[in-house]
Amino acid sequence: MENLKGLILSGGAGTRLRPITHTSAKQLVPVANKPVLFYGIEALVEAGVKEIGIVIAPETGSEIASTTGDGSAFGASITYIDQTEPLGLAHAVLTAEEFLQDGPFVMYLGDNLLRDGITALVDAFRASRPDALILLTRVPDPGNYGVAELDGDRVVRLVEKPEFPPSDLALVGVYMFGPSIFEAAKAIKPSGRGELEITDAIQRLIDGGKRVESHRVLGWWKDTGQLDDMLEANRLVLEDIERSVDGELVDSKVEGRVVVEAGARLERSLVRGPAIIGADARITDAYVGPYTSIDSGVTVSRAEVEHSILLSGSSVSDLDSRMEASLLGRNVKLSRGDGLPKTLRMIVGDNAEIRIP
Ligand code: G1P
Repeated sequence: MENLKGLILSGGAGTRLRPITHTSAKQLVPVANKPVLFYGIEALVEAGVKEIGIVIAPETGSEIASTTGDGSAFGASITYIDQTEPLGLAHAVLTAEEFLQDGPFVMYLGDNLLRDGITALVDAFRASRPDALILLTRVPDPGNYGVAELDGDRVVRLVEKPEFPPSDLALVGVYMFGPSIFEAAKAIKPSGRGELEITDAIQRLIDGGKRVESHRVLGWWKDTGQLDDMLEANRLVLEDIERSVDGELVDSKVEGRVVVEAGARLERSLVRGPAIIGADARITDAYVGPYTSIDSGVTVSRAEVEHSILLSGSSVSDLDSRMEASLLGRNVKLSRGDGLPKTLRMIVGDNAEIRIP
């Protein structure tokens, strides 16, 4: 079988997840306590794609490389490729041309999550070897994505973030290409947002009479570039976890599908799943509700947290109202002074310290 390489795009400023992304890469934000990026690597490896290039940006590249390593932890071999300027997805493909060596490849956007993985889709690509295989799924807000117009099964037009979407079929951030994509990426001009769009490069293949196949993604798909999508991805991944309680429970109750990792300690607390409590977390006189991921070393005391993601080393204490739909960065300290209870909703960057009045 011809060797298929993988290309994960993990640059991008993550502007829609600021301020978290001021200090850390969006692809490293954990979903159910595992960086989003790792799900993509695992999906590629499962599909038999083990030689992987990860395109990184100057600001976040070294953090991504040091967290992800050489790939051996995933049964893969990872090469890091520098994209010095954020000039678009097609530009990233050109940046990786030497690594890809004119062979077919699977391109995976590092902030995308697909419930059912990509194995069946990669197998379909291997079997029919079109110039491009794209994945489509119905979305309520097609204007935020690349959008496909079909004639029967045939893709006739692709437009990037159209003001008037021709359909509700969005381009999922996983693509499979033969070598003709390089020529197409070189031929296109930057879009209105100043980027070489992969959408335009694929349109170029269509216009040149090349074979562009589309497949539907039926299981859930999330582009985790925004807070609500990140929380939704967290919810969906937690929906599938199995209960395992390895931490210590003191006068505490753990209901439903909850993971309590070894070293975590719950005292006089209730955790209602699906939820995950990471290693060395301390939950004291607290309530942790459904769809919450508490990372390692987090402290929650005299507080209620639900449908939220708390990154490692953060602490939340003495809240009079329940915190929900929130994302706290690393080492955030959230505590309470005196005052009236209010609902809290926030996105907080690393090392912040907040006192609720
Ligand atoms: C990119 C692509 C878009 C695609 C989306 C999927 O958008 O340009 O066509 O639908 O990924 O996640 P971006 O996330 O860069 O705005």
